[in-house]
Amino acid sequence: MNNYEIGSFFIHEKIEPSFSNTINKYLQKYSQNHIYLDSGRSCIRYIAKLIKRKVVLLPNYLCDSIIQPFLEENYEIIFYEISRDFKPLLQSIVIDERIGLFYHMGYFGTNSNDSLIELVNVMKQKNIIVVEDITHTLFSSSKKIIESDYYICSIRKWIGIPDGGILLSRNAINLDTIEINDVFVQLNVYANKLKSAFLNGSILEPKHLEAYQKAENYLEKHKNLYQISSNSFHTIQHFNFDDLIKRRRRNALFLLDELTKLGFSNLNVIDYINSTPIFVPLVLENEEQRNQLKEFLVRNKIYTPIHWSKPEIVSTNNILYEVELSIPCDHRYSISDMRRVINVIADFKESKK
Ligand SMILES: Cc1ncc(COP(=O)(O)O)c(C=O)c1O
Repeated sequence: MNNYEIGSFFIHEKIEPSFSNTINKYLQKYSQNHIYLDSGRSCIRYIAKLIKRKVVLLPNYLCDSIIQPFLEENYEIIFYEISRDFKPLLQSIVIDERIGLFYHMGYFGTNSNDSLIELVNVMKQKNIIVVEDITHTLFSSSKKIIESDYYICSIRKWIGIPDGGILLSRNAINLDTIEINDVFVQLNVYANKLKSAFLNGSILEPKHLEAYQKAENYLEKHKNLYQISSNSFHTIQHFNFDDLIKRRRRNALFLLDELTKLGFSNLNVIDYINSTPIFVPLVLENEEQRNQLKEFLVRNKIYTPIHWSKPEIVSTNNILYEVELSIPCDHRYSISDMRRVINVIADFKESKK
């Protein structure tokens, strides 16, 4: 590879016919009933359309694409608070008879939402539909403590596929045949071609960045329910998720150990034994320090996303929007890649002395 980088968009995975169905054992923990759609937001859209009482409780640390389907369906949104260690503040969750839906999630592979168990039981008695976003936790091996009515996962965040979301439900899911989000898939396939060409040095400019953005903009603007493309579906069915988990855990453990040695705190939020983190989240002291570190890493071709840009509609403060930085630990990388990340972070710390 000529343009060697760490982080940023996945290259689409090759279908490996010799593996089959390793994802099913991870889905079974939640439910046997599941369907594949094009994105996490299509899964949320399906649920948002069903519920009659259009008032939703959402965590105040989340991305815009979770909120959008509720706005489309004219929901009133009430936010509850998430603390600096990714846990819901129980006293900020006010239950009343108007609420139709409660949305919760564990962050970065952790079971940070387990403390909701008693509140969820109260909600069920009040016929509030409970939705768990398992995008960050699908591959963690902690026990399922909370029985939700629905689970949603944006599986496209884990591996290189043009599209993909999974909706699971305690009850059977009835959905007529729906269309594939063809244009979105094609835009992603094109961006993927540009990225491959950039990585192998056959084009010099990172034109793929604009192309991926165009695909994401398309997804934002088109508000139908779409099913997954057959290519993504087959890739998922034949992907070796056991291996993905092994690699991510190994990388995450290495990062966690080394980052602790460098004096970063807050890493104890990750359960070292059971978590399969989607990224390793660093919590910096303030926004300036976070942005400086992000810039420093970019100069070394290490791309660390921020989870998330604060959606405009979130009315309450959450410091995580200002101080979080996500370190990639995914299956593309070896320990020597992770060592490179750590060395650059150590250089950054040194430069600040
Ligand atoms: C935790 C979480 N859930 C759901 C979504 C929505 O997924 P998608 O972008 O596939 O619609 C996102 C998107 O970033 C997310 O981070």
